[in-house]
Amino acid sequence: MSFLDSLHWRYATKKFNETKVPANALAHVLESVRFAPSSFGIQPYHVVVVEDAALKEQINKHTFWDQQQIATCSHLLVFCVDIDLAERAREYVTLATAAGRTDVTSDPDFDYAVEAAAFGNKMGPEWAAKQAYLALGFALAACAELRIDSCPMEAAHLEKIKGLLDLPTRYEPKVLLPIGYRSPEDAHASDAKVRFDESGLFSTAA
Ligand SMILES: Cc1cc2nc3c(=O)[nH]c(=O)nc-3n(C[C@H](O)[C@H](O)[C@H](O)COP(=O)(O)O)c2cc1C
Repeated sequence: MSFLDSLHWRYATKKFNETKVPANALAHVLESVRFAPSSFGIQPYHVVVVEDAALKEQINKHTFWDQQQIATCSHLLVFCVDIDLAERAREYVTLATAAGRTDVTSDPDFDYAVEAAAFGNKMGPEWAAKQAYLALGFALAACAELRIDSCPMEAAHLEKIKGLLDLPTRYEPKVLLPIGYRSPEDAHASDAKVRFDESGLFSTAA
């Protein structure tokens, strides 16, 4: 199956069946998050995996419109941004040092950690979220590759979910990804895909 076959197969699943995503498949999805690119490489995000049924039920209560994805999914991935950019950048430099990345660590005129955090702050508060959404995209694609269903979700009271997860201050939930396997009761599986055609999305510059 090609990448495009996988994209045609997937859809934003509204209800999952009771089948659990196996541990090795979940690890594959998380590895795709880990290897997503990010600006300066600092990965200013953190993903919380929720499997506990009672906790998923509680989180589900904080979604809009009585959506059932989180209550029924196998695992919920909560994509948080790390708002402590300075600390995250320092942690990255520590890693890069251990990996022998002298391009990151050895320029006396360019303090990588300071510059990365300064760049992120200059780009604005949504900068870390942009990186997290890119990682979300990789997770979505990895799920489709493995024929795991998923539904990216923003329609939730994220501050309430932060409280339920008892997250450190530096982590702010931004977007949710319930994953699992589609329920036969989910009629949306057969919805026609609605996408702008090429002329509605692409143009060429002279
Ligand atoms: C960032 C993001 C947030 C979304 N939030 C929700 C949501 O809260 N609930 C939902 O049912 N679908 C949500 N969706 C799914 C979109 O509605 C869906 O991807 C889009 O309509 C295209 O349909 P398809 O994914 O089935 O091809 C979200 C998608 C994205 C990318």
